Amino acid sequence: MTQTTTQAESRTEATAAASGANATERFQRDKKVASQVSQERVSTLATELITAAHDVIRRHGVTYDEYNALKAWLIRVGQDGEWPLFLDVWLEHVLEEVVNSDREGTKGSIEGPYYVPDAPELGSDATLPSREDEKGTPLLFQGQVRDLQGNGIPAAKVEIWHADDDGYYSQFAPGIPEWNLRGTVTTDEQGGFRIHTIQPAPYQIPTDGACGALIAAAGWHAWRPAHLHLKVSAPGFQLITTQLYFSGGEYVGDDIAQAVKPELVLEPRDGQVTYDFVLDPA
Ligand code: DHB
Ligand code: FE
Repeated sequence: MTQTTTQAESRTEATAAASGANATERFQRDKKVASQVSQERVSTLATELITAAHDVIRRHGVTYDEYNALKAWLIRVGQDGEWPLFLDVWLEHVLEEVVNSDREGTKGSIEGPYYVPDAPELGSDATLPSREDEKGTPLLFQGQVRDLQGNGIPAAKVEIWHADDDGYYSQFAPGIPEWNLRGTVTTDEQGGFRIHTIQPAPYQIPTDGACGALIAAAGWHAWRPAHLHLKVSAPGFQLITTQLYFSGGEYVGDDIAQAVKPELVLEPRDGQVTYDFVLDPA
């Protein structure tokens, strides 16, 4: 892989707002959206959601000024391409909790808006694509993929993607090489894998779009703790989408997306950490 872009070149061009706008385009391109949701289910869910909004209006005596501020803001969420960001920050963690509630294996976490399928295949001893002068603390992340009985799963797929040391994702912030800090790792005969990368930085929700405007207007903070994103899968097993965090890192206890679970916090020592994934049967 030849990657000639240096981090110094790309950093100056990266703006937060572009990440959000790209997320809408990628969602429309990459995600298969179910065309079949029954009329009964649509009616039930839409009625309850709308009724919940009615309750809020009544309980808080919402004014026309506030109603129009909401309208203006919702219009802006679309204009800024920030629906994927908004939904993944404020709703997805509950969806994940509901959908994965009966799993026995590795805990899941939200996918977020920045997954891209078909990242380069890197074998079982992998170095993620990175720039010549990629900033950040080197990290060797290794482990094993197992079934519920403790047997290693050979040829399991470990898809990994994460932000750089400035908190930006390739293909969403401009000027970063296409597959930077993204890869598809395949486990060896024992289910083992080794991934050489850097530790990502905490991620800030873009401050210059609609989501940032809400955060500022409400006086919240805009941060997620540093995290690795993963999708682990193998034939005959359920795919798990999850994230791993770093013990003691900023915002681990105060994630705006509420996606941290204690089982998903790593404690690297001397730049290395081991974490094993356990897959539920399909
Ligand atoms: C968002 C970004 C992330 O990197 C993530 O993991 C979850 C959500 C967001 O901006 O919505
Ligand atoms: Fe993320």
